[in-house]
Amino acid sequence: MALETTYMEQGRLVSPAAEPEDGENGAEGSLRPHRLDEYIGQEKAKENLKVYLEAARRRGEPLDHLLLYGPPGLGKTTLAGIVAHEMGVQFRVTSGPAIEKPGDLAALLTNLQEGDVLFIDEIHRLSRQVEEVLYPALEDYALDIMIGKGPSAQSIRINLPKFTLVGATTRAGQITAPLRDRFGVVLKLELYTPEELACIIRRSAGILDIPCEADGALELARRSRGTPRVANRLLKRVRDFAQVKGSGVIDRPTARLALQRMDIDEQGLDEMDRSLLRAIIELYGGGPVGLETIAAALGEEAVTLEDVCEPYLMQQGFLTRTPRGRCVTRAAYSHLGMKPPAGDGGDGQQVMDGMI
Ligand code: ADE
Repeated sequence: MALETTYMEQGRLVSPAAEPEDGENGAEGSLRPHRLDEYIGQEKAKENLKVYLEAARRRGEPLDHLLLYGPPGLGKTTLAGIVAHEMGVQFRVTSGPAIEKPGDLAALLTNLQEGDVLFIDEIHRLSRQVEEVLYPALEDYALDIMIGKGPSAQSIRINLPKFTLVGATTRAGQITAPLRDRFGVVLKLELYTPEELACIIRRSAGILDIPCEADGALELARRSRGTPRVANRLLKRVRDFAQVKGSGVIDRPTARLALQRMDIDEQGLDEMDRSLLRAIIELYGGGPVGLETIAAALGEEAVTLEDVCEPYLMQQGFLTRTPRGRCVTRAAYSHLGMKPPAGDGGDGQQVMDGMI
């Protein structure tokens, strides 16, 4: 049986992972809102954050340390930048894997100014030694430095300016309990609705000077897997089609043509998503099957499937996670134009009717 196993996550149009062109100097940088009232969606997180920011401002104190978690591409960096902007302080950005040694973190912390926001992306990837330096920094705004070795070793304490750490992670479950407990505010970001994404697309189209009609924006939004980063990336590619094949305006027919040419289907699934569902059906009778097994069959990293494909497939009701492994649903069979096994598939596996 032929399964396309070579689909690369990098360069994937609907990947929520950041690509170089999305970066600070690319489209994502210029499209980022700077104020909370410009930020579309995430109403629950936003409403709470508004209160915390106002209270911190009134007290003249930095905001409590903040942990943002949720799938990639939902605007964790953007929200952290907004916190800095709203508090009128500097925004320093780094990531878990970039802080290799305790000394790297010490250098970052000692260069902060009073009130600054330090953003650590992928905070679950900090090493244990680095994490230990972070604990007193978060709790007491202090660095404990060991001088010397053996019995004559001494610890000296350096005071740090009061700052706000904003940590971001796609995997809240991988954060150690001592680190998680040091965040005063924990906010979960959810996938966006098509209507919210359509607003984001129209805002971005305005900034990029791309003519975009409401139904064109909604068509794009419906297929952007709930993720602004994907929506903004698709917007730019659809603009190319609109300019070369259409009238220069993103309307519904142009959006549909472009998405079809990019192999993004009616529900926003791309070839990687469909390969994942097909693998579970064709190789493992619809599941349950372990994630590592599927990843090996597809030649993909398990974390990529888990962070990038699964949240959207589950939200769409195509996939369920059970204690025994992943299962596809009847909706997945139907979406792929495949016939589900009747009731019990004959091998004891019940095809799921929907999300559990
Ligand atoms: N661009 C990316 N994410 C956004 C959001 N949530 N609101 C407005 N513009 C955005």
